[in-house]
Amino acid sequence: MSMVKNQQQIARMREACAVAAKVLQQVKALVKPGITTLDLDEAGRDFMAALGARSADYGYQIGSRRYPAHTCISVNEEVVHGVPSLRRVLQDGDIVSLDVTVAYNGFIGDNALTIPVGAIDPRLEKLIRVTEESLAVGIKQAIVGNRIGDVSHAIQTYVESHGYSVVRDLVGHGVGQQMHEPPEIPNFGRRNTGPVIKPGMTLAIEPMVNMGSYRTKTLSDGWTVVTADNSPSAHFEHTVLTTEHGPEILTVPPQ
Ligand code: MF3
Ligand code: CO
Ligand code: CO
Repeated sequence: MSMVKNQQQIARMREACAVAAKVLQQVKALVKPGITTLDLDEAGRDFMAALGARSADYGYQIGSRRYPAHTCISVNEEVVHGVPSLRRVLQDGDIVSLDVTVAYNGFIGDNALTIPVGAIDPRLEKLIRVTEESLAVGIKQAIVGNRIGDVSHAIQTYVESHGYSVVRDLVGHGVGQQMHEPPEIPNFGRRNTGPVIKPGMTLAIEPMVNMGSYRTKTLSDGWTVVTADNSPSAHFEHTVLTTEHGPEILTVPPQ
């Protein structure tokens, strides 16, 4: 499969990504102490439906399991793929990562962010800020003629310079008619390695950053990825289009 989209595919990626960005903002606006992650998930499902989209997560198959919810909501030491639950009540001082992946008109938009719940420890503020900055640093390297390893290396270097670690067990990815397409985009790696970046690639770049060790494990629910040392973790993601004029973020929040 070609990693390069044609003009019509790019037009449809723009639309799917605009919807994904809008839904992410709508769910974000509901985050507050006392709300459950299931409340957020159901709201996300309804926001998608109202825009004529559906969740690309729901029923997504990895191995023999199908993802049982419409969004991924990961709290504190949860890295990604947190399964929304009525039992998970957000508390003042938590950090929460929202990952929204929509299917719209046959194409997929994927984006994520981490935000505070109420007032949080300044160390958590910094973790969130550095993770968001590392995404910007990675996107900057998504230049035609660079290689994927240039993106990976830039993210890793930035994150580690702040004393944090990048998760190795999960990676960013190409995105299009499928949620996960080639190329893989690790958040660690060496310059000048990996596939060459061409115009017309749509890439989900998504650093997952741990305050402690990079090691992770998966909980017995088969989905929720947590840090092995229970240190907090943050996650930001954009779907980015590569062009001759540089990277263009497709999942920009609406004005
Ligand atoms: N949105 C995730 C990503 O960024 C993938 C979710 S997979 C699911 O790649 F199974 F949890 F839905
Ligand atoms: Co995602
Ligand atoms: Co993704």
